[in-house]
Amino acid sequence: MQIILGITGGVAAYKSAELARLLANQGHRVRCILTEAGSRFITPLTLTSLTGEPCYGANPDQGEWRAQPSIEHIELARWADLVAVVPATANILGKAANGLASDLLSTVLLATQAPVLWAPAMNTGMWDHPAVQANLQRLRSFGHAVVEPAAGIMACGEEGTGKLADVAAIAEAIQVHGTPKLRCLNGRRVLITAGPTREDLDPVRTLTNRSTGAMGIELARAFRDVGAQVQLVLGGDLAAPWGVETVRVRSAQQMLEACEARWADADGLVAAAAVADQRPEALSPEKVKKSDGIETLNLVRTPDILAQLSGRKRSDQWVLGFAAESEKHLEHAKAKLEKKGLDAVLVNDVQHGKAFGAQANALTPVTAQGAQPTLGPLPKDQLARAVVQWWGHRLDLRQD
Ligand code: CTP
Repeated sequence: MQIILGITGGVAAYKSAELARLLANQGHRVRCILTEAGSRFITPLTLTSLTGEPCYGANPDQGEWRAQPSIEHIELARWADLVAVVPATANILGKAANGLASDLLSTVLLATQAPVLWAPAMNTGMWDHPAVQANLQRLRSFGHAVVEPAAGIMACGEEGTGKLADVAAIAEAIQVHGTPKLRCLNGRRVLITAGPTREDLDPVRTLTNRSTGAMGIELARAFRDVGAQVQLVLGGDLAAPWGVETVRVRSAQQMLEACEARWADADGLVAAAAVADQRPEALSPEKVKKSDGIETLNLVRTPDILAQLSGRKRSDQWVLGFAAESEKHLEHAKAKLEKKGLDAVLVNDVQHGKAFGAQANALTPVTAQGAQPTLGPLPKDQLARAVVQWWGHRLDLRQD
């Protein structure tokens, strides 16, 4: 994405440097525009160094400068896929809400067709003022997104709402607001299972697997970004993604129950979880003591969540499964597709320890028509987006 990051005059301006770096590291191109007041808190040199792109706007000693005064605001407005103002003062909110354009940032905001996102930061009294709230209301009515400030102790010493939201959350909101929505997934409810499950033997021991849940979490983000209402049923320890309703579970049975409660209302299921296939026959309330000689552990099967939900699939619902295979990939995937009644199986090659915990990965979709071109190898966030685009395209074809 090509992002214009507007930085206005507030103490939180130093956090926009961290945001600029985070967005650049995520592969976005970031061009900063400083207002005159913003440039008193942070320098263009800091921002160009972090983004590798020019920084526009103000020089505190010379007022505002422009390389090409007449058309620069139009070029930047066209260049942007999204304009984010972080931190946004009461002043810039008031200007933008009322169509005032008196410097580079406010002219870009008026000229751009791109989505706009605000992350305000100001004193609590200013934030609560009806004029500021009315301006925000107006900006929301233009389709702009607002990442609300957090509560806490502010630089002025007062306590209340007005602190800039968490930088990572702002980056996620930028991703959501700046991603074009997919017609067939926008507003649709998608249930996603992710992560490993854990089957306890006793209070200290557990049976699990090497999955981290990273791919399922990236899929949740990718479906969220194209407009789906995602419900994530998550095992393991990774943090839940921002803006996704997440239910945390431990065992396969808990995962099944959480999914069953949500399946009837869902449009689709993505079963990305690495569910333990077996669990100990009995859960010991006390720690099991070791004994001499060969020790045995009786295992019983866990429920197959994907098979159970797919078995109750209505004709308007769709189901995507995963298959981790180390040999005869397509043959096994085809068998899974048919046995579990799936719309597609995404085949993960786990030969030689690939996939689990790895940064980059590849998936081959297999449908009733056979193997489709492999997606990747790509980092997991990009691979998740590729899966969503691939599946969105197929859903579109079905609807037409
Ligand atoms: N799955 C599930 N519940 C289980 C087991 C698997 O929902 N108890 C889902 C996984 O999330 C994945 C797919 O089923 O989408 C994997 O299918 P599965 O047949 O379990 O694959 P493998 O475990 O690789 O099976 P096998 O050992 O038979 O190859």
